[in-house]
Amino acid sequence: MPEKENSPEIRIKENLEKENEKLIEANFIEEIDKNHAIVARNIFKDYEIGNFIVRAVEDVSLSIYSGEFLVIKGPSGAGKTSLLNLLGGLDSPKSGIIYSFGVKISDMEEESLSTWRLLNSGFVFQNYNLISTLTAEENVMFPMNLSGVEFKAQRKRALELLIQMGLKDRREHLPFQLSAGEQQRIAIARALANNPPIIIADEPTANLDKKTSKFIRDLFKDLKNSIRTIIIATHDDYLINLADTIISFDDGKIINKEIINNNKN
Ligand SMILES: Nc1ncnc2c1ncn2[C@@H]1O[C@H](COP(=O)(O)OP(=O)(O)OP(=O)(O)O)[C@@H](O)[C@H]1O
Ligand SMILES: [Mg+2]
Repeated sequence: MPEKENSPEIRIKENLEKENEKLIEANFIEEIDKNHAIVARNIFKDYEIGNFIVRAVEDVSLSIYSGEFLVIKGPSGAGKTSLLNLLGGLDSPKSGIIYSFGVKISDMEEESLSTWRLLNSGFVFQNYNLISTLTAEENVMFPMNLSGVEFKAQRKRALELLIQMGLKDRREHLPFQLSAGEQQRIAIARALANNPPIIIADEPTANLDKKTSKFIRDLFKDLKNSIRTIIIATHDDYLINLADTIISFDDGKIINKEIINNNKN
């Protein structure tokens, strides 16, 4: 609705929001350094459906240091996925600021943001989101292809990851020919493909059989010992026990933050 967007009230409101962001930015500039995987300040996310507005993320501020293992827990509808989407650059906040390793991502154009995502954040989606027309191997190669990795190197890395996931013999399978646990492991392999410094996983052990859950838990335990920053939305006690920081999230807000280990700070 262009007339709504161009109305003086909206323009004034947008200018005020921009001024406010400058102030916020000036106040936390010392934290925007390369040691922080993510620094988010006063971020908001709304969904508009007809006349209804759902505020999924409300005034969230959060600093995640490089190498931190952060768990976000909270009831269904709390806004965990919406928050992960913002932190992983899959979505931009309505207002507020997000920096990653010293780079401001909250107001990047989609093209730059997608390049940033390819190299910096590997996302494991709640519903796997594999590309249905590509084989398991091609799904893992996909982000490497987009980031310009040579074809031979793509196949080599994909094979290594498929072996690591115990799925070497499933590489020609299409997603519908794979079990949920297998799809989840392919999704993790895809997230790791470009070796991004940040891994974001949305309930990675939910709805899986015991054996696959254990496999994925062990994988995250190994990832914890790497230099990567891990951000997971989960209710899984095993994954929660790996956390350096546990955030309880409800109604779009952080309601509690428990710091277990801040040695890496
Ligand atoms: N694309 C969308 N359009 C409209 N509303 C949405 C959309 N995505 C999420 N919401 C709403 O935003 C709120 C937060 O949703 P979100 O998916 O982030 O919660 P969640 O904590 O991840 O829940 P779950 O544990 O069930 O995955 C919910 O009220 C949801 O209905
Ligand atoms: Mg969710």
